[in-house]
Amino acid sequence: MASKLVLLFRFLIIVALMQFQTVITIAQPQVPCYFIFGDSLVDNGNNNRLRTEAKANYSPYGIDFPPGVTGRFTNGLTSADIIGQLLGLTDFIPPFATATNQEIIRGVNYASGAAGIRDDTGRELGDRISLDRQLLNHATIVSRLSLLQRNRTFTNEYLKKCIYTVNMGSNDYINNYLMPEEYIAGRIYTPDRFAELLIRKYSLQLRRLYNLGARKIAVFGLGFLGCTPAEIARFGTNGEPCVESINNATMLFNVRLKPLIDDLNNDLPQGRFTFINVTSISTPEDGVVLPNVPCCQLRSDGQCVPNSIPCPDRNLFIWYDGYHPTQVANTVLANRSYTALSPTDASPYDISRLAQLTV
Ligand SMILES: *[C@@H]1O[C@H](CO)[C@@H](O)[C@H](O)[C@H]1NC(C)=O
Ligand SMILES: *[C@@H]1O[C@H](CO)[C@@H](O)[C@H](O)[C@H]1NC(C)=O
Ligand SMILES: *[C@@H]1O[C@H](CO)[C@@H](O)[C@H](O)[C@H]1NC(C)=O
Ligand SMILES: *[C@@H]1O[C@H](CO)[C@@H](O)[C@H](O)[C@H]1NC(C)=O
Repeated sequence: MASKLVLLFRFLIIVALMQFQTVITIAQPQVPCYFIFGDSLVDNGNNNRLRTEAKANYSPYGIDFPPGVTGRFTNGLTSADIIGQLLGLTDFIPPFATATNQEIIRGVNYASGAAGIRDDTGRELGDRISLDRQLLNHATIVSRLSLLQRNRTFTNEYLKKCIYTVNMGSNDYINNYLMPEEYIAGRIYTPDRFAELLIRKYSLQLRRLYNLGARKIAVFGLGFLGCTPAEIARFGTNGEPCVESINNATMLFNVRLKPLIDDLNNDLPQGRFTFINVTSISTPEDGVVLPNVPCCQLRSDGQCVPNSIPCPDRNLFIWYDGYHPTQVANTVLANRSYTALSPTDASPYDISRLAQLTV
């Protein structure tokens, strides 16, 4: 009897310990730091003080985010916010515009609405931080980290452990190639040639990121830009659900991006690059396709009308405004890039595996 009680007691202790361990595992960050490069899909306030129309620091943006309006172009969290949570990081990664010395140890978000791979992309909306400028900003952060940590070897080793995500290229189509009246590229290049030029420039930029110490880098392909409510309104669909010619043009970029990632892994000895297939992830597993309509009332530029009342059932919408997904759509993207559901979602690794790799 007594021994049975002891056994039961031991069993209970083991169960309690297991639960305790689970809690600890969840609370333990997978990586010490996370750096974010991108456009309005992941901007968290860098554009607030720029002279540009591409900013979202007004209501109804942020309606489902407890701190409210921050400059995020969605109702709640961006996919980068959610990837940070999945990595076990407790605080949101701060925007470059306001990051303090204490904060930069955990990473920085450089993303800027309307920015692109090409420097001129987004010019028609005003100022923006192109990927070239985001990389310059990262160079200043690496210098600041080196000064703070006072040991260059330590900083180099530290930077290798971080996760980096890069989400670029949408604006090179929406706010460049698809506006031939404003930008020369759409007048002089075929879609194929334009995709080739973008990839050539992107290749140099991703190599520069590696040269600044990054090793574990997830690069997001383009989603179905022809299915955004704003492009549908602008171009019409000929009875199809989406603007096919736009989806076709952006696929030419994606089919070149995946082999670029393979080349970078082959060329750069410590490179651990991975390709996130956004079109695979945005194809629902259950086959239920939600309509391509925005949740908020749109201005002519595709953003929400200031202080308008958005749809009440925001979990049933893919699009918050004319271009940007809702938090629930961002959650699907973040979840499946972190833990792939289909073998085509991420290759060669999903982000959870990328985090575990040792370089
Ligand atoms: C600098 O950092 C490296 C790597 O962490 C460590 O091995 C080395 O002892 C450090 N040097 C000094 C002077 O602290
Ligand atoms: C888009 O590509 C598909 C498949 O290659 C093709 O059938 C279709 O005609 C293309 N549509 C447009 C508008 O270019
Ligand atoms: C992305 O995944 C889809 C499957 O959903 C596949 O058809 C497509 O080829 C993939 N794209 C690339 C660039 O690998
Ligand atoms: C995303 O993943 C989290 C945690 O794994 C899960 O609780 C949530 O339901 C998922 N959300 C979506 C929209 O897939």
